[in-house]
Amino acid sequence: MQTSYAPGRVELLGNHTDYNEGVVLSAAIDRGVTLIGERSGSSLVTLCSTTLGLTFTADAASLAPCKDQGEWANYLLGVLDVFQKEGLPVGGFSAEIKSNLPLGAGLSSSAALEVSTAMLLQKLFGLNLDRLTVAKLCRRAENEFVGVNCGLLDQASSAFGKAGHAIFLDCRSETVETTPFPDGVELLITQCGVAHRLSGGEYNERRLQCFDAAARLGAKALRDVSSAQIEAGKAILPELSYRRAAHVVGENERVLQGIDFLRGGDVKAFGALMFASHESSRHNFENSTPELDALVEIVRELPGVLGSRLTGGGFGGATVTLLERDKASAVAEALVAKYHARTGYTAQAHLCEIADGAH
Ligand code: GLA
Repeated sequence: MQTSYAPGRVELLGNHTDYNEGVVLSAAIDRGVTLIGERSGSSLVTLCSTTLGLTFTADAASLAPCKDQGEWANYLLGVLDVFQKEGLPVGGFSAEIKSNLPLGAGLSSSAALEVSTAMLLQKLFGLNLDRLTVAKLCRRAENEFVGVNCGLLDQASSAFGKAGHAIFLDCRSETVETTPFPDGVELLITQCGVAHRLSGGEYNERRLQCFDAAARLGAKALRDVSSAQIEAGKAILPELSYRRAAHVVGENERVLQGIDFLRGGDVKAFGALMFASHESSRHNFENSTPELDALVEIVRELPGVLGSRLTGGGFGGATVTLLERDKASAVAEALVAKYHARTGYTAQAHLCEIADGAH
């Protein structure tokens, strides 16, 4: 038997920048997906999810995405399929899946499952791929097999995580740097209690709107556009394209400012960028929801809170809040209570440590 583990991630700044060839700041968290498995000695694949209480079988020689009930299996089968298409010597295996990562919370349980599968397959079949290759193959599995056109953020964060460090990912050069996260602060992840629609059409729609805005500005990607250029182009851009582009371009700029603030230990300034990021999601990108807005509005009034924003794709899911460590538990408790009083929903608050990536 072999074991693999891959964590979930939290996006700190740089919302919807990855597929626009931009920059992102993220971190791997101390929750993730563990797989325990062995080779089957044939083409039989047996997957057993402890979390869901379900078992699924497939034939490695004829893989196809499952619909309905077996959709969770696609994240594992997709990685196996992509490895096979790359000519890597893999085959049937069995795996038991255990996860302490909330599903559908915007913390990339899907990427954690993919990256954990890639790590397990490597152990079982004697492969030694570098982390970037792992991240890219897993993204390909998600794009081609699962059918979600995500960028590299989730898989790269799960693969490259480093305890106590933020990850800076440049999605054009596909390079990763880690930078120490300041002491004395903590990350609070709060699920809004309304499911995040994973394969929701909104994500792919936003992606196309971004590509359209870049084309209208005569740019290869929104990565190449500055805020000044967007303001100058305001007259020729339809209002919707303007707002979509302003979000992505603003996020790229906030990431670059944010990394300087992290290096200088200026957590207050970093937190202000998080609030600005959320406001831009709400107004420009329209990927927030009334519940996520309520979480941010409530938490910003609580003592010790430095910044807060939605994290990940949006349209539900979770917020991430940066706060002073000694106030963290009190803030988490007050937030859940006040949010329930205001919306009727029960939020789940998780105080998270920044942890190592897949192994
Ligand atoms: C989801 C996608 C990522 C990224 C974020 C938004 O998490 O999977 O690739 O686009 O949304 O930043």
